Amino acid sequence: MKKKIALIFGITGQDGSYLAELLLRKNYVVYGVKRRTSLIHTTRIDHIYKDPHLKTNLILKYGDVTDFSNVFNLVNEIKPNEIYNLAAQSNVGVSFELAEYTAQTDSIGTLRILEAIRIIDKKRKMKFYQASTSEIFGNSPDKPYNEKSRFEPVSPYGTAKLYSFWITKNYREAYSIFASNGILFNHESPRRGENFISRKTIIGIIKVLKGHQKCLYLGNLNSKRDWGHAKEFVLAQWKILQHKTPDDFVIATGKNYSVKDLVNLVLKKLNIKCIWKRHQNGLEYAISMSDQGHIKKSQIVIKQDMRYFRPNEVHDLKGDYSKARRVIKWKPKINFDQLIDEMITQEMKNYK
Ligand code: NAP
Ligand code: GDD
Repeated sequence: MKKKIALIFGITGQDGSYLAELLLRKNYVVYGVKRRTSLIHTTRIDHIYKDPHLKTNLILKYGDVTDFSNVFNLVNEIKPNEIYNLAAQSNVGVSFELAEYTAQTDSIGTLRILEAIRIIDKKRKMKFYQASTSEIFGNSPDKPYNEKSRFEPVSPYGTAKLYSFWITKNYREAYSIFASNGILFNHESPRRGENFISRKTIIGIIKVLKGHQKCLYLGNLNSKRDWGHAKEFVLAQWKILQHKTPDDFVIATGKNYSVKDLVNLVLKKLNIKCIWKRHQNGLEYAISMSDQGHIKKSQIVIKQDMRYFRPNEVHDLKGDYSKARRVIKWKPKINFDQLIDEMITQEMKNYK
């Protein structure tokens, strides 16, 4: 039987690496788009080349979603059955400083891929997946959020991604392209970028414990997120494209925790006993109550720092994934505690 061909924009990222593994195990030929960078940045997919069964079906191409001729040529040469657009400037905090670049990548990048499909794929055989996000709900009141909730993004990232959500739907309706959105809530893993809160907290606290860093500096501790495991969330991405009709799906766990809950869980799992105190200016800090590793009693282990607050914040994200459970038969199995356990275990190994 002829193998299916997938094209992944964003293969070097957290989700791209898990999705590539999943598709290769399902016997796809996977084309991945990597950017030219001054340093090699394929660490999340390098292990695939050590697996003799997987490596033969993985082909990497240089590309960038800000370059239409490149996107067009890739789609035209590869003629994939499925295209996954995971490419993005994906950091919400950074999007306030790189607003225009974020729009170029996270909005117009999507349009470029859809235009390439519209022009090249006259028979409408290609399927397109767009990595949408819970950030498009912003602080909208109708929680927990589902596919019918209002969109009120509050960051350049969320707004750029909302454009992509709508343009994907527009191209589906106007041109009959099989184009679907996965509205994914936060998902983490040992492969998470180091400047997202889960991985930053785990790396930071381990460094303080080992005496390689004095203190960990964080921003807003009160916001709540619905955190799942990336490995399970990429399965949903694939399932969305296997459904008989194109559609939009919320992918979440349905449970949420505050950033402070996350930090306290990491401290507990590393046996560090702390109490939280507050400065007069309102900023909080955590002091250790006993010696542990290189941490001394009364040492400040974590401190809030204004540098890590955002100009605007999404306060409380919780998703309702009942449509995905009913229609594509997807549900999460790994809970928050197990996710953090896995991330800490892997980080301790990395540390050694
Ligand atoms: P990630 O680790 O930051 O990966 C982003 C990927 O996009 C990387 O491969 C990156 O390449 C690539 N990329 C960035 N700019 C590009 C450009 N101009 N042209 C081509 N490729 C570009 O993000 P992730 O966590 O895997 O998330 C995957 C997608 O899902 C993103 O679109 C993100 O916005 C979205 N999303 C993520 C979450 C989440 O919680 N993880 C939730 C909802 C939606 P480099 O390696 O060269 O930087
Ligand atoms: N990154 C970061 N760094 N976040 C911090 C820090 C810090 O030092 N201190 C507090 N936070 C808070 C943020 O203000 C936010 O409320 C929360 O921790 C989570 O931040 P991130 O892990 O950066 O994720 P995010 O929710 O902003 O965005 C992620 O999830 C979105 C889906 O909801 C990203 O993966 C996006 O790409 C994704 O779309």
